[in-house]
Amino acid sequence: MNQDQLKRRVAAAALEHVQHDEILGVGTGSTVNALIDLLHENRIPLQACVSSSEATTARLQGYGYEVVDLNSSGPLELYIDGADECDPHRRLIKGGGGALTREKIIAAASRQFICIVDDTKQVDILGRFPLPVEVIPMARSQVARQLVELGGEPVWREGFVTDNGNWILDVHRLSIVDPVGMEQQINGMVGVVTVGLFAERSADRVLVGSTSGVSEY
Ligand code: A5P
Repeated sequence: MNQDQLKRRVAAAALEHVQHDEILGVGTGSTVNALIDLLHENRIPLQACVSSSEATTARLQGYGYEVVDLNSSGPLELYIDGADECDPHRRLIKGGGGALTREKIIAAASRQFICIVDDTKQVDILGRFPLPVEVIPMARSQVARQLVELGGEPVWREGFVTDNGNWILDVHRLSIVDPVGMEQQINGMVGVVTVGLFAERSADRVLVGSTSGVSEY
């Protein structure tokens, strides 16, 4: 089974948690794309979706799903999204696709956050995947210098602009032994919009797709 098949397998498991006619929070990335395809293929009726990116919005609308603004939907019952890494405590690194800020907002607004990953994303300590940090463009160098002081190697994702009009620094070589502390520290830097650490508000449930099936923790 290849990685795309594992993504579809875990997405199918997540489908069972979706209630018909609810307003569903939908994340971003290839695993979530598999989920959106399955929502359509299985003709799951939804009142609407709240989307974490323009790419997800386009895919949902392409299948005829209505996408509404979080300001009009109010709090959500369920948010489903992928991740770039997850640790045994359901803390995550997200933002490989650059949608981290909207993802974090929807996660904060949702009663339940189910994270769907294939087993290549599981780690004991977060940080092997470069940590994305969304910054206001004029603060890029200033924030990068502070990230170096934290022991990281920030690399500007050149040419990439987030849906919010900002830039991304991908921070390499961090060993994140205190994810909550690091999330607070990086979020506290002036000019940082969001760090892609989901530790204070971790996932409530992680579904992991592997060749042997789907496990949950
Ligand atoms: C998007 O910004 C990310 O947070 C994604 O959730 C993450 O990159 C997972 O993407 P894949 O499902 O494509 O691996």
